[in-house]
Amino acid sequence: MCGIIGYVGNKCAVPILLEGLHRLEYRGYDSAGIAVIEDGQLSRVRIQGKVNALVARLAERPFASTIGMGHTRWATHGKPSEANAHPHTNGDETIMVVHNGIIENYQILREQLTARGYCFSSETDTEVVAHLIDEAYTGDLTQAVKRALRKVTGTYGLVVMHTAHPDEMVAARRGSPMVLGVGNNEMLLASDVSAFLRLTNRAVYLEDDDIVTIRADNYTIDTLADKPVTRETERIEWQPDAAERNGFPHYMLKEIFEQPETITNALRGRLIHSEGIAHLGGLDKVLDRLKNTQHLVIVSCGTSYYAGMYARYVFERLTDLVVEVEIASEMRYRKANIRPGTVVLGVSQSGETADTIAAMHEAGRKGALLLGLVNVVGSTMSRITEAGIYNHGGPEIGVASTKIFTSQCCILVMIALLLGRFKHLSVTDGMEIVSGLERLPEQIAQVLDQAPYIRSVAANYAHYDNCLFIGRKYNYPIAMEGALKLKEISYIHAEGCAAGEMKHGFIAMIDPSFPTLCLATKDMMYDKVISNMQEIKSRGGKMLAIATEGDAAIAAIADDVIYTPANLDFLQSIPAVVALQLFAYYCAIERGRDIDQPRNLAKSVTVE
Ligand code: F6R
Repeated sequence: MCGIIGYVGNKCAVPILLEGLHRLEYRGYDSAGIAVIEDGQLSRVRIQGKVNALVARLAERPFASTIGMGHTRWATHGKPSEANAHPHTNGDETIMVVHNGIIENYQILREQLTARGYCFSSETDTEVVAHLIDEAYTGDLTQAVKRALRKVTGTYGLVVMHTAHPDEMVAARRGSPMVLGVGNNEMLLASDVSAFLRLTNRAVYLEDDDIVTIRADNYTIDTLADKPVTRETERIEWQPDAAERNGFPHYMLKEIFEQPETITNALRGRLIHSEGIAHLGGLDKVLDRLKNTQHLVIVSCGTSYYAGMYARYVFERLTDLVVEVEIASEMRYRKANIRPGTVVLGVSQSGETADTIAAMHEAGRKGALLLGLVNVVGSTMSRITEAGIYNHGGPEIGVASTKIFTSQCCILVMIALLLGRFKHLSVTDGMEIVSGLERLPEQIAQVLDQAPYIRSVAANYAHYDNCLFIGRKYNYPIAMEGALKLKEISYIHAEGCAAGEMKHGFIAMIDPSFPTLCLATKDMMYDKVISNMQEIKSRGGKMLAIATEGDAAIAAIADDVIYTPANLDFLQSIPAVVALQLFAYYCAIERGRDIDQPRNLAKSVTVE
């Protein structure tokens, strides 16, 4: 969602801010802006639209300032417009604020400020913060920010500048990420390290209620309660190039093609073949509690939720745990089923999804052991959990999640393998699973080799306005994920359905104008899925099957077939989903869609 970049240093700030904003574009936004302090005055440029439009506007006004802030806004309070774009200022334009998150009591604060004579020039919740700081300011910017934030409820990652402090910037965080980049004679602030990785890989992650004050050559951190704190400086391993397209037309395609490597990275050093077990170092310190638990709750949203759904089937197969999978936005308000010993595993690419974090906080309050499976190192989820596992998948920029979904599935299989081996799973069963996992990178590469063929198949389906995806057992979440990918980036109406459920209603929709994508890999549900396909065929429905290599018979039922490699029943769903990712991508290409930034979607959903 919204993105923040701030800079104080010895270089011209504007190009650094624009580069940072470009790198944050993947989060999804509808307006953008920057502000600098030049000759003791605020200069601010904002646009509704894309960062390139901001670049064009700035070309007319070169700034030499070495301090500035930038923001990409994804509208929450107030429509997307130039007036609502950040940075926001106080009345006399001495204070500038960029903000991610939601000020929950902004309405009452706005009424109170208005009664005290403050005028508002936007509909945003953020603007109240600029006026509150104005009211609290007596010469010390850091103290003014603290006094203002003590009146605020809600979430924020925010950065503040004041024209009377032209070499200083203050940032704060509560519930919304904020990271400090430490350079040589330059400091940066951002909502995401990718915004400044080109300049420095030394990062300090702020904790909730931290306040940092930066100057070009130093910084100090304390808390809203005036308590000095020390936060570690971490070295970020991601190369900035990893966030570039490397010759692919879209990040999504690049990330789909990275999967042999991201799966290898997810598995690296985590499988012990001779013992048929996984070793997940991040879980070592909670292993005893994990071994003894009877109850696992997986909580997540969107694609990460489908990874959780897939995992439930795998856990049921490999362990004796009772596993529940929860949609975070629902779980956070339900009476969560937390029993003594319950383990709650949050699954999130970004580690910042507001609903998932809130559901986990709630479960933690009720005594659950909180674990995380997360891609973004240092993210909120990695901080609120007692232990966890990183995907090591590198930055995922495309809004539609691809490489992290398959990585999540593999890691969840490894967790199930680990726990299963402490229960009934034999060493030989374990060895078979280890081998199956190790074959996946090569098998995914085989699917990727078929990209030109999948493109030609997609061309036959892209003109339909609807599409059904069916699958059973392990392939049911894969059908859901395939439908989500298609609708997200092509805007074709797509629905995922458990194949056995079709006859309870959905079959009414089937006719020659409503194609079905059938996940029919060779597993114990194969015959059942074939029966469902026959039902569709007899109603004139067009069908594309994802089938296991060597299954010649299926070509007599389906109109088109994409073959994926054989593996253990639950593992062959993983190459199958790669075929669906490519299918969705090429349908969206046929329809001329904005693939990396689909309409209305944000990469990281940091508001409720
Ligand atoms: C879909 C997609 C979203 C995310 C969801 C959760 O392609 O990317 O559905 O999966 O917003 O995000 P994370 O995994 O960051 O918690």
